[in-house]
Amino acid sequence: MQLIQAKDYDDMSRKAANIISAQVIMKPNCVLGLATGSTPLGTYSNLINWYKKGDLDFSQVSSVNLDEYRGLPADNDQSYRYFMKTNLFDQVNIDQSRTYVPNGMEPDSDKACRDHDNIINELGGIDLQLLGLGLNGHIGFNEPADEFPKGTHCVDLTQSTIEANSRFFASIDEVPTQAYTMGIQSIMLAKKILIIASGANKAEIIAKAFLGPVTPEVPASILQMHPDVTLVADEAALSAYLKQKSEMEAN
Ligand code: GLP
Repeated sequence: MQLIQAKDYDDMSRKAANIISAQVIMKPNCVLGLATGSTPLGTYSNLINWYKKGDLDFSQVSSVNLDEYRGLPADNDQSYRYFMKTNLFDQVNIDQSRTYVPNGMEPDSDKACRDHDNIINELGGIDLQLLGLGLNGHIGFNEPADEFPKGTHCVDLTQSTIEANSRFFASIDEVPTQAYTMGIQSIMLAKKILIIASGANKAEIIAKAFLGPVTPEVPASILQMHPDVTLVADEAALSAYLKQKSEMEAN
């Protein structure tokens, strides 16, 4: 794992956006794996600014999103399709017919998941997958479990995820209880992975995920096995990781 230390959220966002820009510049028709949540917002806003300045061109890029709430239509302002449209797609020159988010309105969950996996395969796989990190170590919506799920699947969200995400909804009762998410295998097959984290509330889980045992109880811990992972995180998010690492090295 390559660690890039950032000062704060803005610095993390700039550094992460630089890595994504490099990918788009080096391979203009690349496949970007995209994530939602509050962490990537600053990254996306840098990409939008650089596009507006003429430094970036998304016209040949395709994108695949990690996950979507089951039961939320694309025009619901809490759906991940809506999030992506508002916070990135509508503001850059990406061809939106080549942006793929799992179809939250497909009632047949097997079909919704198969369709998403087929799209990833037809695109030839993901060149760069951006990831945030849930407080319990989830990536996408792969929640702690007894085994690592492989392809796209339907998950029951844990109470801690429902509570964490309720801040975006009018009330906790409105948070969907299920989601379609890319599986761990789909994420691990990405050629490069960029994981971003900011803030003290992520400190404990970063230390666990990157220094603890690889276990499906901490889904992000599988990233220790990926050959090309970059973690961009700020000082607050790295505090426990750096402390634990120096203790381990001293022993
Ligand atoms: C959600 C998303 C994840 C995201 C996580 C962390 O559950 N499904 O993809 O990484 O939240 O969110 P945040 O970046 O807001 O901390």
